[in-house]
Amino acid sequence: MAKAKSTSRRAGSSASRRRSAATGNSAGRATDAIALLKGDHREVDALVKKFETARSGSKERLAQRICAALTVHAQIEEEIFYPAARESLRASDEDLVDEAAVEHASVKDLIRQIEASSEGDDLYDAKVTVLGEYVRHHVKEEETELFPKVRKSGLDTRELGARMVARKAELEEGSAPRGRRTASLSARAQTSAKDLVASVAKVAGRSRGE
Ligand SMILES: [Fe+2]
Ligand SMILES: [Fe+2]
Repeated sequence: MAKAKSTSRRAGSSASRRRSAATGNSAGRATDAIALLKGDHREVDALVKKFETARSGSKERLAQRICAALTVHAQIEEEIFYPAARESLRASDEDLVDEAAVEHASVKDLIRQIEASSEGDDLYDAKVTVLGEYVRHHVKEEETELFPKVRKSGLDTRELGARMVARKAELEEGSAPRGRRTASLSARAQTSAKDLVASVAKVAGRSRGE
């Protein structure tokens, strides 16, 4: 009985390791580029759904989160994923990347308009709704056409994913709301102070011959 329990615990933990290897989240950090992008798509879709049913007064914050998530997502695709896809796809499939890039331009234009306005402004809700529609269309094309072709092309999506995770973290740090950024800077300052104290203690210990 006890043996069965420990076997099922082991099975559970290896399943969770497999999950984190596929999505690149949590402690594992191993990453598949396509799984990472699909995870972003689900996150944005959930936010858009929340926006659609949100009460007035809470919509602007949700819209800002949608815009921030999409901006980072579009940037890692444009900087890392699309160029690698272009290299590995057959010339006849490169149109898919061209179309994706053009769709990004429309998405980014709407993001700029939303970020420059506020809840209650004319067409604010309509702009966010249309952004959600554009994104759903774009995501469908990526997931049903572009990603399967990239997968088939043999591109090393794990190596690519590792680069994308690192770039995404950098961009999120840069676009974090002020409170989160301050907390992270203060955590870094505390670590530096601890390192300094440890170095001084080491030097003092050496000079005492410890
Ligand atoms: Fe995209
Ligand atoms: Fe995408």
